[in-house]
Amino acid sequence: MIILTPRLDAVASFVSGDRLIDVGTDHAFLPVYLLNTGKIKYAWATDINKGPLKKASETIYLSDCSDKCETILTDGLDGLDELDCTDISIAGMGGILITEILERSELAKKANLVLQPMTHPHLLRKFLYDNGFSIVGEGLAKEDRRIYQVINAKYTGIAEEYSDYELYLGKKNIENKDPELFKQFCEKVHRELDIKFKGTKDPNLGIILNEIERIINQL
Ligand SMILES: C[S@@+](CC[C@H](N)C(=O)[O-])C[C@H]1O[C@@H](n2cnc3c(N)ncnc32)[C@H](O)[C@@H]1O
Repeated sequence: MIILTPRLDAVASFVSGDRLIDVGTDHAFLPVYLLNTGKIKYAWATDINKGPLKKASETIYLSDCSDKCETILTDGLDGLDELDCTDISIAGMGGILITEILERSELAKKANLVLQPMTHPHLLRKFLYDNGFSIVGEGLAKEDRRIYQVINAKYTGIAEEYSDYELYLGKKNIENKDPELFKQFCEKVHRELDIKFKGTKDPNLGIILNEIERIINQL
């Protein structure tokens, strides 16, 4: 039985339908966990590399999921437009790579998206808001000392407005505020941006830092 780490567990919690494409699946832990717990009925586990896909096939076979989980070798969502999925997860990749995958996919506009960027989450949020995807949920997960972000988005076709600090903290994270973890998260983002600010003296970063300080002081 697969037990997910807090990061993948947070990703799993945003899957809302019963047919998932897991992009960049590696070991296929996420789709197999969701199949075994009955949360989904069918999955496509995809990866750009043959090695991870071989590991995925082993997990699927050993977990008795071969009749409900298919592996596909492809770059992002390329060639998958015809799949009848409800959800798409893209976890454990850089935020810029995730935007590139979404940008060239029509299927991404039809599914519940569960995205877990390892880097550049602010650029992923900017892409989503500018391109008609609404961020309907966000979550944080802590593993050891690292805090991971999960973004749940759906295409509406309507671009949304945002402030720069919201791109870093996430509007839904600000609304939901799991107080302790959110505070640690704000402080971490503040530390990282402060280092950048000291190096660049970019006035926009100064404004973002002030906004983050204001939010921390309210907690
Ligand atoms: C760090 S692993 C993440 C595995 C799993 N999704 C998770 O979150 O634990 C990243 C996986 O993404 C795959 N990958 C990288 N670029 C990709 C792309 N453009 N399309 C599909 N898979 C990709 C890699 O081969 C690797 O297996």
